[in-house]
Amino acid sequence: MKKQKIHLIVGARPNFMKMAPLYKEFTKYPEEFELKLIHTGQHYDERMSKFFFDDLQMPVPDEYLEVGSGSHGQQTARIMERYEEVLLKDKPDLVIVAGDVNSTSACAIDAVKLHIPVAHLEAGLRSFARTMPEEINRILTDAISDYLLTPSPDGDENLLQEGVPKEKIFFVGNIMIDSLVQYREKARQSKILEELKIENQDYALITLHRPSNVDSEKGLLIILNAFAEISQKIKLVFPIHPRTRKQIAVFGLEEKVKNMPNLILTEPVGYYDFLKLQMEAKFILTDSGGIQEESTYFGIPCLTLRPQTERPITIWEGTNKLVKLETDDIIKEAKNILDGNIKKGKIPKYWDGKTAERVVKIFRIK
Ligand code: UD1
Ligand code: UDP
Repeated sequence: MKKQKIHLIVGARPNFMKMAPLYKEFTKYPEEFELKLIHTGQHYDERMSKFFFDDLQMPVPDEYLEVGSGSHGQQTARIMERYEEVLLKDKPDLVIVAGDVNSTSACAIDAVKLHIPVAHLEAGLRSFARTMPEEINRILTDAISDYLLTPSPDGDENLLQEGVPKEKIFFVGNIMIDSLVQYREKARQSKILEELKIENQDYALITLHRPSNVDSEKGLLIILNAFAEISQKIKLVFPIHPRTRKQIAVFGLEEKVKNMPNLILTEPVGYYDFLKLQMEAKFILTDSGGIQEESTYFGIPCLTLRPQTERPITIWEGTNKLVKLETDDIIKEAKNILDGNIKKGKIPKYWDGKTAERVVKIFRIK
């Protein structure tokens, strides 16, 4: 029997926790599948990449394309040029991409043009905001993929609305939660609270990196002014994304950040430490996609600093709430939680740690 040769693509931080469980599940069937892990190098700092290979027990990538940072056009073009060479040499039977980053759409386009089938993990999500680069990546990838693997039923509905035949759509559940379930116990043992000198429930956790929030001085000031006020009431732990650190420097706002006594600024932290910080937080304030989902799983209130989300199930069923980019709105919502008005939620269907199993079943010889 000829083995199926499969490429698994990773590039940026949120890809690693989505691909790790799939990699492990495929390796249970060595007689059926030959795997290659391809890292585009979109994220390259140790803390944005290598830390996750360690925590998620992933092997060194078979190919590292070293594309680095650049404008959208530059980065996408570099990925396409370099990955195409790998495809021509290696000729896989299937390429699996995840999420909505530039590495996702660039590798998918390369593969389909060489008539290689593509599977998209986390298909069907839509924010309906085409100003977000991620929305363009989602639409492009879904339009050309052969297998659309959705995390929640709204994903199926969006795809059907767009005219995708239902035979291509597979509701498999949320693969990020597979990693969370697998490593939850390790995360519980993390010493990050002691390291940062904080305690369970005495802090709020923050992450920020959306261009719409951090690439303009006005947006950043709106948010930082809210932090200054909220930090009078509760400590704020802020593992800062490299994009955001850079923008704070560009706008000369470093002093403002440093002068907030209750704001604990750290480098991006590893996966176990970040899960621990989430599960013990009073609440989370973020613009991340994945953190909206993880906080819903943990049942921790999440304020999402965005006008819309491609993950509405975290609002309908989970603990997530959208907040307008206005200083007063951010302060009001944070105080609301501190006053004890906590949104309760439930865990959505198939966010159960078994998504990788459901995915691999699709590709096993029937
Ligand atoms: C990317 C994704 C975004 C995802 C985020 C997760 C796209 C279009 N965006 O955004 O969807 O939510 O990753 O974290 O794919 N940088 C470093 N070190 C690194 C990586 C980046 O310093 O290891 C800095 C560089 O200055 C770079 C900037 O961060 O220009 C932005 O990086 P980029 O990958 O273009 O976008 P992200 O904002 O990270
Ligand atoms: N994360 C992490 N350390 C951090 C910040 C985030 O391990 O300092 C994890 C988080 O738990 C989640 C993923 O990174 O699993 C989310 O990635 P990110 O917010 O960068 O991207 P997005 O989901 O917005 O695309």
